[in-house]
Amino acid sequence: MKVEIITLFPRFFEGIFDHSMLKRAVDAGVLEIKLHNLRDYADDKHHLVDDYRFGGGPGMLLKPEPLFRLFDEITRNARPRPTVIYPTPQGVVFNQDIADELSGERHIIFLCGHYKGIDQRVIDRWVDREYSIGDYVLTGGEAGVAVMIDAAVRMIPGVLGDIGSARGDSFRNNLLDCAHYTRPEVIENLRVPGVLMSGHHRNIELWRRSVSMFLTRRRRPDLLKKSEDT
Ligand code: ADE
Repeated sequence: MKVEIITLFPRFFEGIFDHSMLKRAVDAGVLEIKLHNLRDYADDKHHLVDDYRFGGGPGMLLKPEPLFRLFDEITRNARPRPTVIYPTPQGVVFNQDIADELSGERHIIFLCGHYKGIDQRVIDRWVDREYSIGDYVLTGGEAGVAVMIDAAVRMIPGVLGDIGSARGDSFRNNLLDCAHYTRPEVIENLRVPGVLMSGHHRNIELWRRSVSMFLTRRRRPDLLKKSEDT
């Protein structure tokens, strides 16, 4: 998967791709990252990339000209046309289904907004999808992009050591994952639940399912409602 990121803060991404699964994906050639500094596409001597909003009000907008220039340049020879994603609080809320879908994309461009966002004409012309990573407002799109790349890349076949472990992840089947334990059997008087030591696979399966149901009902009843609706 080729991922290009348009940002005013390329250094935000320093280190993010140097660890764990993302590093493994880069080293294996499964993931290629290219950063574009939007400021390099400003055409005035002060490298201005933002401007006031028509209609007034506080907060600046990213100007359209540098973005149009940048998109023209980086998509000129790209066939098929890459999927362009704009992280924004106004977007559809990102979830595991979307991460799974993105993991199948060959070429994605993420456009990081700042300030009050970007001129709508850039969105109309270039953006295919707008995603929010949650109901809160961030200072810019960079953190959202890091989240989306991480969630999508781990679902590319070969990136996770054991893809079976993703099958029990939270949000699969609209349930939260259950509790997990490793050695030792007892620590500071805290004991691993007996059923997990029993070797009785069916009972272990039932226990895990009941813990998942309990947690989901308590913390995310909306997920159970989603199951009922589908
Ligand atoms: N940019 C600012 N807030 C955001 C959010 N909640 N999700 C994605 N991008 C954002």
